[in-house]
Amino acid sequence: MSQIVINGGNTIRGSINLQGAKNAALPILAATVITGGESVIHNCPRLSDVTCAINILRHLGCLVYREGDALVVNSSTVDKDYIPDDLMNDMRSSVLFLGALIGRCGSAKISSPGGCELGPRPIDIHISALKKLGVTLIDNNGVLEFSSDSLQGGDIVLPLPSVGATENALIAASCAKGTTVIKNAAREPEICNLIKYLNAAGAGITFLKCGDISVTGRTQFNNCEITVIPDRIVASTYMACAAVTGGEILLNNLCPEHLISVNEYFAKSGCLIKAYQNSLYLSAPKKLLSTDQVRTHYYPGFPTDSAPMLLSMMIKASGTTVFTENIFQNRYRYTQELKKMGANISVYGKTAIVTGVKNLYGANVFATDLRGGAALAVAGLCAKGRTRINKIGYILRGYEDFCENLKNCGADIKEV
Ligand code: EPZ
Repeated sequence: MSQIVINGGNTIRGSINLQGAKNAALPILAATVITGGESVIHNCPRLSDVTCAINILRHLGCLVYREGDALVVNSSTVDKDYIPDDLMNDMRSSVLFLGALIGRCGSAKISSPGGCELGPRPIDIHISALKKLGVTLIDNNGVLEFSSDSLQGGDIVLPLPSVGATENALIAASCAKGTTVIKNAAREPEICNLIKYLNAAGAGITFLKCGDISVTGRTQFNNCEITVIPDRIVASTYMACAAVTGGEILLNNLCPEHLISVNEYFAKSGCLIKAYQNSLYLSAPKKLLSTDQVRTHYYPGFPTDSAPMLLSMMIKASGTTVFTENIFQNRYRYTQELKKMGANISVYGKTAIVTGVKNLYGANVFATDLRGGAALAVAGLCAKGRTRINKIGYILRGYEDFCENLKNCGADIKEV
């Protein structure tokens, strides 16, 4: 099995052009199923999760090919309404095809996407939202069979601003007769990117002043183009790599306004941050400061996906930092691996207490999930000696040219 091998201690200094956002590209790829025409998706990142989505699109009958940095999808020949288990299990986000399949075919058959490395990943909110649009569900021994004679607009109130459920509701509502209002919707930048795509395809989606989302459905859609927004979570990862090595980094092709809460914590840790039109410069002190309390929250709060990398930054910081994870139930599995490197971390349910230590030591560690794996790389860059990260398939799900980018900034890192 391949590994990422890091010899720690080098200072990260350089610039990186940021990739397109995985969590924007995936729902947009799913949504292409409803148009029945051609969609050109610019700045689509080259990731294993994107490959999974392409495999599902091709299984459904779409034509998919790359043209430079763009991915072209023609969904005029969709001829299936089901996703086989092997493709469902490859990626949690395959559930995002649910709304698109029902919108296009009037039915969808998927196996429950099951749990994942972050704890249970139920889809009850997705299901209740779709039912408000007239969808019925039969659970046929674990195969969920959805159907709808004709989607009708309705009022959807999400019990919590679930990103995926908001995305499924937006895509299905774009195919419904009449207007749908989604209350308590997620407001992540990736949601706005999906809305921009759906509107380019012909849907009528607007934000109401109270933050709710209004969707006027269509029966016919246009060929369209969209540019995937930069990946704010990958940005926070490279920022953490520079921060833990006392280095400096210039990130290009990014939206600084998507990182306001992230920048706040990096500044609290002693980093100097300068935001420009579509780039960001960070320079780090020799020793980072504890950021005291870090509570993850829905956007625009501090993102749960950036917390593992910030936690790695706090391992050698002066003082103690208390992390509270408010989104997922089981997001701290990676801390066990960090403790093999000498980290002082105590986990109590959704709280993790990190007390700064003088040194971290390279070790043979295992990625437990995508961002947990990235956190191990951050720690390896500032550890004494060699760190071998196993199960790097998790990292490759979300990071394009990860080792190459860091090597170009001075890291002693390679994939073997
Ligand atoms: C998206 O996951 C992202 N994934 C996650 O990024 C991200 O951490 C998460 O949003 C929160 O921002 C993609 O966009 C592909 P949720 P999603 O529905 O949609 C519970 C990464 O590293 N819930 O907002 O699955 C759920 O269990 C990944 O790139 C229900 O209970 O997140 C969780 O505790 C990790 N029932 C909470 O809501 C449901 O029907 C938030 O989940 C749906 C969700």
